[in-house]
Amino acid sequence: MPDRKGIILAGGSGTRLYPVTMAISKSLLPIYNKPMIYYPLSVLMLSGVRDIAIITVPQDQHLFERVLGDGSQWGIKLTYIAQPSPDGLAQAYIVAEDYLAGSPSVMILGDNLYFGHSLPDLLKSINASATAATVFGYQVADPQRYGVVEVGSGGVVKSIIEKPAQPVSNLAVTGIYYLDETASERAKQLKPSERGELEITSLLQSYLDEGRLAVEMLGRGIAWFDTGTHTSLLDAGNFVRTVETRQGLQIGSPDEIAFDSGWIDEETISKRVKLFENNEYGRYLERLRRR
Ligand code: TTP
Repeated sequence: MPDRKGIILAGGSGTRLYPVTMAISKSLLPIYNKPMIYYPLSVLMLSGVRDIAIITVPQDQHLFERVLGDGSQWGIKLTYIAQPSPDGLAQAYIVAEDYLAGSPSVMILGDNLYFGHSLPDLLKSINASATAATVFGYQVADPQRYGVVEVGSGGVVKSIIEKPAQPVSNLAVTGIYYLDETASERAKQLKPSERGELEITSLLQSYLDEGRLAVEMLGRGIAWFDTGTHTSLLDAGNFVRTVETRQGLQIGSPDEIAFDSGWIDEETISKRVKLFENNEYGRYLERLRRR
């Protein structure tokens, strides 16, 4: 099996954050001290994925390139793909078809933030497995805002429904999707939903129809935020600030992950230290380098 490739879906219109996102993509907004996209990128890197495509709106692609470059500063390979209009999460697999070229993938939403001790190991194990489709279920107080899964005895997935008025469970499907090499073919068969989008839920349904959709539970020891509203954006920033200040450790630092993983050498991290010499992030990287 070819290596799993990563996708960060960072397009969309961000209308819930208007007027903040009228001139700039949501995933470039700050979550405390870093651009939002650093966090989902770090999650992919922590799980060992080093070949990653970033899907953006066409007009902001150059901004993402300015922030993230070609990935060589982190020992990874970044590819940029434009999504001409935001026609749904499942469309990612159509615009990324050539990039994926028959590889299985892990897609993460560009506005999702995960934090938790056991997460990298869990992701690594799914990365390495040959599962057809795996998503995560997470208990939330407001399931009607999300895709909701119903899981029967023995962990069998019984149903998956997008934004149900009467949710059958409190289990939201989070924004990480592990799909096999058939995802693009399946996405091309989908019809737009009533709201005019190619729904990720419909794509997952096609795996469920074949009994090939697995749901892994993320427990209460893991924090999952999506940052699509003004309140949730601020909450995520405050969360990062609180934990980083208390521990003196950074959340969502691709530099740290790359250096700790041995993907970059001392000279490369030194350039980053210099770039950020005027702030705490740079001092943090300097401490890492000397460790
Ligand atoms: P959403 O939060 O569902 O949509 P949005 O970002 O367009 O925001 P709003 O509802 O406020 O208008 O999207 C989740 C993530 O997926 C987000 O990072 C944007 C991205 N996305 C795309 O890249 N392409 C798409 O077609 C859609 C629907 C979302």
